[in-house]
Amino acid sequence: MKKVVVLSGAGMSAESGLRTFREMGGLWEEYDVYEVASPGGWERDRQMVLRFYNERRKQLLEALPNPGHFGLAKLEKDFDVQIITQNIDDLHERAGSTSILHLHGELRKSRSTTDPDLIYDIDGWELNEGDLCEKGSQLRPHVVWFGEAVPAIQEAAEIVSTADLFVIIGTSMNVYPAAGLIDHVPETAPIYVIDPNEVSIPGYSRIKVIRKKAGEGIDDLINEFKNE
Ligand code: OAD
Repeated sequence: MKKVVVLSGAGMSAESGLRTFREMGGLWEEYDVYEVASPGGWERDRQMVLRFYNERRKQLLEALPNPGHFGLAKLEKDFDVQIITQNIDDLHERAGSTSILHLHGELRKSRSTTDPDLIYDIDGWELNEGDLCEKGSQLRPHVVWFGEAVPAIQEAAEIVSTADLFVIIGTSMNVYPAAGLIDHVPETAPIYVIDPNEVSIPGYSRIKVIRKKAGEGIDDLINEFKNE
């Protein structure tokens, strides 16, 4: 079976009603990223950070996977599909995909502020001040903030380096190190981009662009793959 490696971003979940970050009306237009998604923001105002992620979590619990997520899950019938997602939602999981690496963490999990190995499922949508790990320390969202290392990046790079086909869906390719994963794609592997807007990826002439939303674009991709 050929290996399809997918790098997904916020656009993947846009049709599920979750907002992207950098488009008009995106989250970083309404919120200051350094206040709600950085270690400094956490130091300054935990309540605000917790509120921001609680709101995201509440919306996620009401959201459903969209045809894009389901299409990728279906692709597993014919391909060895490995998803690397920048998304902290669990919509790939809920659509039935079985191999998912979360580069930027998981919204429905919390982590101890003193022991990064202590990770818990969050029951419901709220994580609050006073919610403690088993060692008595405050819990924080289990997400990667700006200025923090991306622990899964090495594993992701290794997965990308084994791709027969590489697919980029719904990411502006603005955030590193995630965007740099493309440099690990073997030269023989075709690269597909599914995005309704133009995505700038300098230096790659072999990219096939499917300029559609994820839900529709997946159907085109599956047709393309029939020739692979
Ligand atoms: P962006 O908001 O930067 O980019 C979203 C991309 O999705 C854009 O290229 C849109 O054109 C595209 N898009 C919009 N609707 C779409 C649809 N229906 N189908 C397919 N594509 C669509 O989001 P990311 O690239 O994911 O990090 O952002 C990367 C990281 O920056 C995030 O993981 C987050 C953010 O700050 C952290 O919080 C650490």
